[in-house]
Amino acid sequence: MASCPLLLLGLVALFHGSVSAEQRRIPAENLLVITAATDETDGFNRFMRTAKEFNYTVKVLGLGEEWKGGDVARTVGGGQKVRWLKKELIKLSEQKDTVVLFVDSYDVIFASGPEELLLKFSRLGHRVVFSAEGFCWPDQRLASKYPEVHSGKRYLNSGGFIGFAPDLAAIVQQWKYKDNDDDQLFYTRIYLDKTQRTKFNMTLDHRSRIFQNLNGAVDEVVLKFERAKVRARNVAYDTLPVIIHGNGPTKLQLNYLGNYVPTAWTYENGCGNCDDDLLSATMPLVYMAIFIEHATPFMEEFLDRLATMNYPKGCVLIQVVYHEQHIHQFWERHKDLFPDAQLVGPEENLQEDKARTMAVDACKKDPECDYYFSIDSDVALVNPDTLRILIEENKSVIAPMLSRHGKLWSNFWGALSPEGYYSRSEDYIEIVQAKRIGLWNVPYITQAYLIKGSVLRSRLSQVQLYQDDGLDPDMVFCRNVRDQGVFMFVSNRDEFGRLVSSANFNTSRLHPDMWQIFDNPVDWREKYIHENYSKIFEDEKPCPDVYWFPAFSDKMCDHLVETMEDYGQWSGGSHKDERLAGGYENVPTVDIHMNQIGFEKEWLKFLKDFISPVTEKLYPGYYPKAQAIMNFVVRYRPDEQPSLRPHHDSSTFTINIALNNKGRDYEGGGCRFLRYDCRVESPRKGWSFMHPGRLTHYHEGLPTTRGTRYIMVSFVDP
Ligand SMILES: *[C@@H]1O[C@H](CO)[C@@H](O)[C@H](O)[C@H]1NC(C)=O
Ligand SMILES: *[C@@H]1O[C@H](CO)[C@@H](O)[C@H](O)[C@H]1NC(C)=O
Ligand SMILES: *[C@@H]1O[C@H](CO)[C@@H](O)[C@H](O)[C@H]1NC(C)=O
Ligand SMILES: *[C@@H]1O[C@H](CO)[C@@H](O)[C@H](O)[C@H]1NC(C)=O
Ligand SMILES: *[C@@H]1O[C@H](CO)[C@@H](O)[C@H](O)[C@H]1NC(C)=O
Repeated sequence: MASCPLLLLGLVALFHGSVSAEQRRIPAENLLVITAATDETDGFNRFMRTAKEFNYTVKVLGLGEEWKGGDVARTVGGGQKVRWLKKELIKLSEQKDTVVLFVDSYDVIFASGPEELLLKFSRLGHRVVFSAEGFCWPDQRLASKYPEVHSGKRYLNSGGFIGFAPDLAAIVQQWKYKDNDDDQLFYTRIYLDKTQRTKFNMTLDHRSRIFQNLNGAVDEVVLKFERAKVRARNVAYDTLPVIIHGNGPTKLQLNYLGNYVPTAWTYENGCGNCDDDLLSATMPLVYMAIFIEHATPFMEEFLDRLATMNYPKGCVLIQVVYHEQHIHQFWERHKDLFPDAQLVGPEENLQEDKARTMAVDACKKDPECDYYFSIDSDVALVNPDTLRILIEENKSVIAPMLSRHGKLWSNFWGALSPEGYYSRSEDYIEIVQAKRIGLWNVPYITQAYLIKGSVLRSRLSQVQLYQDDGLDPDMVFCRNVRDQGVFMFVSNRDEFGRLVSSANFNTSRLHPDMWQIFDNPVDWREKYIHENYSKIFEDEKPCPDVYWFPAFSDKMCDHLVETMEDYGQWSGGSHKDERLAGGYENVPTVDIHMNQIGFEKEWLKFLKDFISPVTEKLYPGYYPKAQAIMNFVVRYRPDEQPSLRPHHDSSTFTINIALNNKGRDYEGGGCRFLRYDCRVESPRKGWSFMHPGRLTHYHEGLPTTRGTRYIMVSFVDP
């Protein structure tokens, strides 16, 4: 096939927030940590131990004094802490370079040191930052007065805040209340007053860059283990909080996290182990090249995934190289997923090796390009953090391990034959099946890999990476990289995704993905099976021995109907009589059978994989052969055939799946079982009902009174 790829260049700016010149680095000596505690509880000692671990200087207020701040665990209070702080800060009110961090201590631990804390503080760009949480406490009526937030927690928590000394001093000088009045309410009122908020340049740490309040957020915080190190990570916002506060009923959670504190790592200049937040301080620029060399199933899902990937916060340059007319149209429809994409050379008759060279050269020639990431369309990269993970591995050339679902076919070779072709290494199977986990130095990788820009510009600068007449570009690439003494790694430390098979992809069909149930079963299931299919076993029984469960996704329903309408040869009249003569159909319907559209094999596979498990559960002792001879889509319309007279089905059992929406697409319809005088009148799109065919379940199709109703019917085990 003549390849006629197009090259699209687009700049996708995924950069959030920059390190402006005015954000000076604050030296650690300028930081003072203040806490308030009357007793040296275990929690207090733990706090002090973590502070010492990271070299914080801590001033403790109130030790040995009597606590008059009320029972804060149960009710409001805590004002005494503000009174102490007021007295302490008045001494610092002129020290404009001093940064004060105030934190509770009984239920707080540090997860990192002062340098990281101060860096994050200055990057927030405000003079005063309070921690945030998801509950508006103690006065919920104030909730609506809070500024809206785009993402993150909206409400102030006073268990932790940081700011320049003069601003904090001025804030606490306003305290004139009783020791058991509420401190959080006091700070909240100041924050909600727009004049004061602006005057003191206050904000909240909505996304837990510094402060992690655990109350209401326990599920967002996981321990991230990395070799000998471990750190708590907020997975909702992808941040590594510096201070962890076990507020409310989350003390045990904090105790658990606290077990790991002595081994926590801190931010170093290198950025080997740091969060996105800090990665953006070094802003890696990743050039990404997408190659669509042949028609590939599940293309829409491929592009959607790229659009939702977590890029390191830098700029990502996207190049898309593709050919084939229908992909061209497809890309045209979906390119808005990649804003600012621009077409560079639609008429260029680029061969694959030239296209790959052109893409990699873009990074090679740009001294700012930190990484080059190449991905082919048959890669389903389901781990959105893939790029970050690969970057963190810090290798010259690295590929995420990918294989076809349940197969040994992968994107790397473990060994080479003497002629330079594939050879199976002893550990190949174990690596593909993830029985051995690690980072593997291998001789061949393909389909998705990351190359350091600096390596392209140094050790690989003198070679034409992909071009050599007659050889597959990926073979040429790997040979060249090997010849330059650059190691290629494949990682199976994380799960990254899988390879999609394009072998039997028939693009002359209207919705060719529907036929992919054999070759790409995981992708097929994700696209076409109802997301709540796994709940099939929460029986719903609208009539005796009639079961009801979610089966198809909306897409499956739509693609099936569209395929039938596109085929168009709905049965009627004489066509029907032939089949009646065959003795299968008791009652004629307006329908198209699965064998007419060449979908019979695929349909039987669907029955076997998704319907048999349901019948085995619902009709115990009956093991369906899942053979079905009658599989068809029926169309009901008031002016064509609105209903079906009472009949038995020639099946052991029947499934009947609604393919469109009652109310929106049609009115009426449904099914009545005469023996029980029971109706299923509000079918739900994508839901299947299932009932015994002969003997008991004599039934009729109720009239459709408006619009067109489609159902999929299968007589199982005739
Ligand atoms: C704390 O300070 C000591 C002495 O200056 C130093 O050896 C140690 O590495 C520091 N610890 C951290 C986590 O920075
Ligand atoms: C806070 O202060 C910084 C610098 O001092 C300024 O750039 C920023 O606009 C201020 N923000 C608000 C909301 O006043
Ligand atoms: C990454 O690897 C290079 C070369 O092996 C090394 O010099 C550098 O220190 C590493 N960087 C980090 C952050 O580990
Ligand atoms: C591809 O699909 C068309 C119908 O759209 C069909 O006629 C043809 O036989 C199919 N080709 C293969 C190889 O299955
Ligand atoms: C699946 O179930 C959940 C929870 O009941 C519901 O919110 C969701 O809408 C369901 N999905 C579909 C496609 O109906």
